[in-house]
Amino acid sequence: MLIMRMVDIIEKKRDNQPLSRREIEYFISRYVDDQIPDYQVSSLLMAIYFNGMNDAEATDLAKAILDSGETIDLSGIDGTIVDKHSTGGVGDKTTLVLGPLVASCGAKFAKLSGRGLGHTGGTLDKLESIKNFNINLSSEAFVKQVNDINIAVAGQTAKLTPADKKLYQLRDVTGTVPSIPLIASSIMSKKLASSASVIVLDVKIGEGAFMKTLEDARELSRLMVSIGKNFDKKVIAFITDMSEPLGYAVGNKLEVLEAIRTLQGTGPADLTTLSTEIGSYLVYHAGLTESLKEARKLISEKISSLEASDKFKSLIESQNGQFPDINDYIHTDTLIAVKSETSGYVEKLNALEIGLAAMRLGAGRETMSDKIDTDVGIVLNKKVADKVEKDEVLAYVYNNKQDITDEIKTILNAFTITDKMVEKKPLILEVIE
Ligand code: URA
Repeated sequence: MLIMRMVDIIEKKRDNQPLSRREIEYFISRYVDDQIPDYQVSSLLMAIYFNGMNDAEATDLAKAILDSGETIDLSGIDGTIVDKHSTGGVGDKTTLVLGPLVASCGAKFAKLSGRGLGHTGGTLDKLESIKNFNINLSSEAFVKQVNDINIAVAGQTAKLTPADKKLYQLRDVTGTVPSIPLIASSIMSKKLASSASVIVLDVKIGEGAFMKTLEDARELSRLMVSIGKNFDKKVIAFITDMSEPLGYAVGNKLEVLEAIRTLQGTGPADLTTLSTEIGSYLVYHAGLTESLKEARKLISEKISSLEASDKFKSLIESQNGQFPDINDYIHTDTLIAVKSETSGYVEKLNALEIGLAAMRLGAGRETMSDKIDTDVGIVLNKKVADKVEKDEVLAYVYNNKQDITDEIKTILNAFTITDKMVEKKPLILEVIE
């Protein structure tokens, strides 16, 4: 048998030829075992960035990343496991709403979540803003809880897809994060590790997202749906707008409170629409209703009967947490109102700038070792298409820092106010099955 060499694999991809399954398995397994140096993998990643990968290569890459670690055994869960993944957004607390919603409809929501980095938040950080909430469940406790109440949310362990962690860290410092096959195989390896059979992917586009254009988002979605199909999973991709934050709240505890309000039927329209639409697809494809229309009806009944909000309470209490009182004001040292300098209509509200301002207030982390302040954040008072008077409040800042002059400037700059009326853009741009 021919001896495989990393340099040959690099040269093959450099010359725009597809890699074989054996070559992909070779480089991933050897890299995880520290037998291939970072500089050779960097070179291959850059060649993939420029020359791409076909569907078979991306599928093989997802499988090789999946096989680099453990998978959790969820075979003890009785019923159809559903999952959802977002490519990352600002104010994106959809999982907090969606999980209890679909669980109250009878689907099994067995979710392994990650932390936030940069301007985007992570579900684990939001849940940990709830007093005593425990994200470290043993696999037995995780399975038992899903069987008992249909929902559990735990942290991803380092044993799951270790190749993804190692590759992502390298991509982060080699300019190779925004490669569609690399993103698709990274996301899908983690979804495959979590054993769900129905998966909705929320692919965000716009200022605050990885994908900047509809064409790129379509290609990423198509590729992830195709990888899913190769593993016999039902994967549905939503392409949604992330040019402005989702909902009004950005910051961990603030987002949990907004999620509870949404589960009780009094949340923001965009968050309600997105959670109920994704939820309906999950419930229908899990075989719990005969049609999507029926799934939508069931979901709206679970909101009005407060069963969905009660499900969130059960989730929190099962994981040792204390259900927050939504009338309880968050404790921060100061609450500052950011006011408009002109009158008009909000034409743009830059999600990236709002996400960065929230991160600098302490709601997010610049590097993985940064500590988060779960109380701080921003609550928007105006969103795109809203009318604004001079001196009217654009946003409230929940702050524990001494001087936030720069953050206030960033928030003000995030708003573009025009004198012409503005039409609201649709939130869900496409659904790809
Ligand atoms: N999210 C992931 O999990 N992986 C990527 O490569 C990009 C976004």
